[in-house]
This record gives sequence, structure tokens and C-alpha cells, in this order.
Amino acid sequence: MMGFRFASQRRGPEPDDTSVEIVPMKRRHLRAVVAIEQQVFPSPWSLSLYLSEIAGGATRAYYVARVGGEVVGYAGLMMVAGEGHVTTIGVDPHWQRKGIGRRLLLKLAKVAVSHGIEDLTLEVRVSNVGAQTLYHEFGFAPAGIRKNYYAEVNEDAIVMWAHEVQSPAYSERLDAIEERLATS
Ligand SMILES: CC(C)(COP(=O)(O)OP(=O)(O)OC[C@H]1O[C@@H](n2cnc3c(N)ncnc32)[C@H](O)[C@@H]1OP(=O)(O)O)[C@@H](O)C(=O)NCCC(=O)NCCS
Repeated sequence: MMGFRFASQRRGPEPDDTSVEIVPMKRRHLRAVVAIEQQVFPSPWSLSLYLSEIAGGATRAYYVARVGGEVVGYAGLMMVAGEGHVTTIGVDPHWQRKGIGRRLLLKLAKVAVSHGIEDLTLEVRVSNVGAQTLYHEFGFAPAGIRKNYYAEVNEDAIVMWAHEVQSPAYSERLDAIEERLATS
């Protein structure tokens, strides 16, 4: 991926003291959100785009993950006509593979269920196998390809769907994920 920047020095809390809180994204978080966004996405969203998303009212649900008060990740959901679209999810490279993306996605999925959403969808780069593995865990399955969706990196997107999220089976899936997180 192009445009990645990795911090050369660690600062703030260490991943071992992980006590992760998931809280609604507010304006005051956006500087940190955009700093992460710029590290993990080749075409990062701007601060003003995040501002308009969090002002989106009942159709939007955006959250940040914090450790020791520091924003280490974020995720967003757009809800329209019974469908929930995961618009973004990013975790600070220093904090990846510690269950933070899983916690964020769990939050979005639970919010979607509580808002009566029937199906969830998202797009992911074909080469982003790590993210796809996470999405599979949440019941997302590939449903199609959008050609050159990520034109800036000349890459196709896989469209994934998780259907029937109101079903008891889906709630059991989320409960199992939550339980694993609590004991990990
Ligand atoms: C995708 C992303 C949000 C995942 O966040 P994370 O906090 O690192 O993910 P988690 O630690 O919760 O991982 C949960 C599971 O997903 C899978 N996974 C996540 N990242 C992975 C990777 N790099 N390689 C393989 N599997 C991966 C694993 O199954 C993992 O479980 P495990 O660690 O117990 O094996 C994060 O890697 C990221 O910000 N990537 C850059 C931005 C991006 O690609 N966003 C998604 C766009 S569609």
C-alpha cells in the first residue's frame, strides 16, 4: 500500500495494558482519527468528511476505540432502507492484531441489529485478506466484485454481505464473538 507512515517511536500506553473503550465518535476525536486514517488508507477521508458523517444523525453510527484516553481505532456505519453499510474501519498500525477491529465491528453489528437493520454490507480490497478474515468472522460472505473500485491503487473491491442479522443465529454469532473477547 502506498503512503503508509509508521511511527518510529512508541508513545502512550502499551498494548499490553489494553482496556479498550468503544465510544461514539465526537468532533474532538477527529484529529486523531484522521491521523490514523492517513496511515492506513491510500485515499484518506478528510476531517470535514468525518465531520459531516458524524453530523449525519440517525442514519450514521461512528465510534472510536480508546486505550488510556488515546484514540487507537475507529469505525462507521451508514444505515439506509434496512441495510447497514460499513463505511470505514481503521486501527492504528501500532495497535493492530489486538482485537480492536473486532471490538469496533462488534459494536457496529450490535447497533445495526438494535436499529432493525436486516443486512450488512461493505467493500474491501481484493488483496486485504486480513480484513476479509475479520469480516468472515462476522458472517460476511463475498457477493461480487466492483472493478477498479479503488482506482488510486488500481484495485478491485470485493462486495461482502452479512444477511439476516435479525436472526437468532446472528445474535448467537455476536454473543460468541463477545464472549471470546471477554476471555482473551
Ligand atoms: C483491518 C483492520 C481494521 C483490523 O483491525 P485489527 O484491530 O488489527 O484487527 P483484530 O486484531 O481485531 O483482528 C481480528 C481478526 O481479524 C483477522 N485479521 C486482522 N488483521 C489481520 C491480518 N493483518 N492478517 C491476517 N488476519 C488478520 C484475524 O483473524 C484476527 O484474529 P486473530 O488476531 O485472533 O488471528 C486493521 O488491520 C486496519 O486498520 N487495516 C488498515 C485499514 C483497512 O484495511 N481497513 C479495512 C478496509 S475494508
